[in-house]
Amino acid sequence: MRKIIIDTDPGQDDAVAILLALASRELEVLGITAVAGNVPLPLTEVNVRKTCELAGRTDIGVYAGADRPLERALVTAEHVHGKTGIDGPDLPEPTMPLRTQHGVDFLIEQVMDHAPGTITLCALGPLTNLATAIRREPEFAPRVAEIVLMGGGYFEGGNITPAAEFNIYVDPEAAATVCAAGIDLTIIPLDCTHKALTTRARVEAFRAIGTPVGDAVADLIGFFERFDEAKYGTDGAPLHDPCVIAQLLQPDLFTGRTVNVEIETGSELTRGATVVDWWRVTDRPANATVLGDVDAEGYFKLLTERIARL
Ligand code: BDR
Ligand code: CA
Repeated sequence: MRKIIIDTDPGQDDAVAILLALASRELEVLGITAVAGNVPLPLTEVNVRKTCELAGRTDIGVYAGADRPLERALVTAEHVHGKTGIDGPDLPEPTMPLRTQHGVDFLIEQVMDHAPGTITLCALGPLTNLATAIRREPEFAPRVAEIVLMGGGYFEGGNITPAAEFNIYVDPEAAATVCAAGIDLTIIPLDCTHKALTTRARVEAFRAIGTPVGDAVADLIGFFERFDEAKYGTDGAPLHDPCVIAQLLQPDLFTGRTVNVEIETGSELTRGATVVDWWRVTDRPANATVLGDVDAEGYFKLLTERIARL
């Protein structure tokens, strides 16, 4: 079993990613850290607990991390995700407690207490918590097995500005720290997730499971896909964050290249742009595997099968 920690800002797609992880016996979820992103931290941490309770996993430790980016004011995305961040299903207020330890302290403690190279970090939101851990504890980065993150966009451009994807835009300094940390890094950008669309048939497959979790997933997707469908003119919206978990479970669903990635932090116009050397036109060293394509049918098949287990 692979040990993972999920760092997240739910977000409907974050919630589906958490459910996918909790449904998968290959993965041991050591804990979940919340970060400010789609909505402020007091909502994201509650949304994580609601999602764990939906999965019947009140045993999972949920920790609140950073409530704002390293150097910038928080930008949120209620226009996509609704005022709670997970508008759609009617999930009850959670009764499982928020753990008192700070999310960054939890990350550092776990990575320092486990053998080097045994913990995979799954990042589904702005990278503030991970960057803070990297900056605070010099032994943190060398001990992390790998980071798989959803963020960035290159050929697809951005979704919050023409140049930047939301997770990287919100905290570009954090993203730059993560990219420079020397950790085995897999980046799943919009180029990949925009091929994983929640078509009507795929949402109906979640509904057809006929369980409260299947219905909740259909309701989560039903809410947030409206915004992207109108924006992109597609049947369905990109289901971004579960790609991170799916990549751990079934890496052959994805293809990409190991290349250099740098983050724009200087310009206001292109703040948070992920500058991917896809064509290897520089001699900058490769620091990430950037995934550019996904077998969308296989991805939704995996998701539907796993969600049906909960
Ligand atoms: C990313 O931003 C958030 O809105 C989603 O949860 C996802 O992590 C997509 O740009
Ligand atoms: Ca997210």
